[in-house]
Amino acid sequence: MQQHQIQVLFDEYQDSSSLNQEDAALLEAAREAIHLSYAPYSKFQVGAAARLSNGVILKGSNQENASFPAGLCAERVLLSICSSLYPGIPVIDMAISYFNQLGASNRPISPCGVCRQSLSEYETLVNHQIRLILGGSTGKIIVIEKATDLLPLAFTSADMK
Ligand code: THU
Repeated sequence: MQQHQIQVLFDEYQDSSSLNQEDAALLEAAREAIHLSYAPYSKFQVGAAARLSNGVILKGSNQENASFPAGLCAERVLLSICSSLYPGIPVIDMAISYFNQLGASNRPISPCGVCRQSLSEYETLVNHQIRLILGGSTGKIIVIEKATDLLPLAFTSADMK
């Protein structure tokens, strides 16, 4: 028997003023995208912004549905926008923020399991890792070098060969 351990490293910043200019701007774009959220059911508005390798910044937000499972998280809305408008162009960084109408919004959230899977697929598709900048509407920020750090032992297309 062999035992293995997987470690995840991430950077923590006190607030967005401690980020470099590029990261702060992307987080700001994610915060702007919160206003485009359609979240009448959960009242939990999420905004995401991606910086592509060609310098373009795209935004997405969560889009809910009266049939709850039909709703989409901001991250997957954004990935669909990226691949529809700029197929094959790597997403270098993605910032995610939110506003919780029913509670606090002062700490980072990280992508749900389904979004982790979609982010992992995108990294494989364009052969580039996606760096994540996670922060609430205020408060500390965490930066994770690649989305797949959040999905150890991921199932990928390579497993189907
Ligand atoms: N949500 C996102 O858009 N991204 C996340 O990372 C977490 C959750 C959305 C899904 C749903 O519309 C609402 O937040 C509450 O779960």
